[in-house]
Amino acid sequence: MATDTSATSQSPQPTGRLEQSNPDYDPNIVIEAQNLTKVYRDFWGRQKVRALNALDLEVRKGEIFGLLGPNGSGKSTTIKLLLGLLFPTGGRAIVLGKNATDVAKNERVGYLPEESYLYKFLNAEETLDFYGRLFDIPAKIRKERVQELIQLVGLEKAKRRQLREYSKGMTRRIGLAQALINDPELILLDEPTSGLDPLGTRDMKDMILKLRDQGKTIVMCSHLLADVEDVCDRIAILFQGDLKEMGRVDSLLKVSGETQIKAENLPESAHEEIRQIIAKHGGKNIVVDNPRTTLEDLFLNIVRESEQRPGMRPTSTTGGDADSATPPADPSN
Ligand SMILES: Nc1ncnc2c1ncn2[C@@H]1O[C@H](COP(=O)(O)OP(=O)(O)OP(=O)(O)O)[C@@H](O)[C@H]1O
Ligand SMILES: [Mg+2]
Repeated sequence: MATDTSATSQSPQPTGRLEQSNPDYDPNIVIEAQNLTKVYRDFWGRQKVRALNALDLEVRKGEIFGLLGPNGSGKSTTIKLLLGLLFPTGGRAIVLGKNATDVAKNERVGYLPEESYLYKFLNAEETLDFYGRLFDIPAKIRKERVQELIQLVGLEKAKRRQLREYSKGMTRRIGLAQALINDPELILLDEPTSGLDPLGTRDMKDMILKLRDQGKTIVMCSHLLADVEDVCDRIAILFQGDLKEMGRVDSLLKVSGETQIKAENLPESAHEEIRQIIAKHGGKNIVVDNPRTTLEDLFLNIVRESEQRPGMRPTSTTGGDADSATPPADPSN
């Protein structure tokens, strides 16, 4: 089995953006990784897996940055390097002006691991109070913050239930609350939506956006493309430890060379006229059509309507002919 024996083999050197005594220090750069590399070694120190290869990365204050990649591409390794839970084999990372290996900086960092290991026999209030004590938060502030966080993550009704009774979604919520107990400036979320149903996923995404609105910087990793697309300002795509793409989500997804025109209440009769105008200007492969909603929006609309009118089949939210493939009812019945 491979073990991490590189921790002692190489100490990272200080870098240009360190907070202390450096005129180059820029508080708007929350994370800076240069040539960050992690090779896991086996028990005998032999190279086993190059999990991260020469990553250069900058995360700015107040943005939601997504690390995207398939299983085993190095996302969790990157997050653990930023936390100082792992030592890099090469390169370095500066987090909040401190070397990532300086774990004291983690007082200003919140971390939601891939799987939260919380005490099963404590309830939500006790759990958050316990972590608040670890951060030496004074009793009065701690009490307020515990209630604020329980409200933020929507666990008011379950706050006195032991965590062993929690569903996956509830466990993810208390994990997020625990990551926020120290009111961190930087929040690292490893697969925040894993195991959540579409409603829980939407809630988690809304919570992440709310945290950004409060001025927090967020780095989240995921292999769920829709989650990343919905919330991230910028993303990096990793594949087998290599950075393959990085940039703003809107510009990476923009299809240049095509134009989209949207309108409400446009009668069908206008379509032909519009086609002709576009053709006159040299536009090719013209499509004048109703846009599609996303499956996520369709599902959420149906669930919300069902909450309001239990028992009934909700009316179609898309105006589409969703049932057209169903054979007509036999009139003889
Ligand atoms: N402790 C370890 N010892 C040896 N190899 C490891 C260790 N941790 C991770 N790896 C390897 O490093 C590579 C990257 O793993 P990592 O957990 O960073 O991927 P990931 O992108 O988070 O994947 P996932 O989407 O499955 O969570 C994988 O090949 C993995 O097997
Ligand atoms: Mg992972």
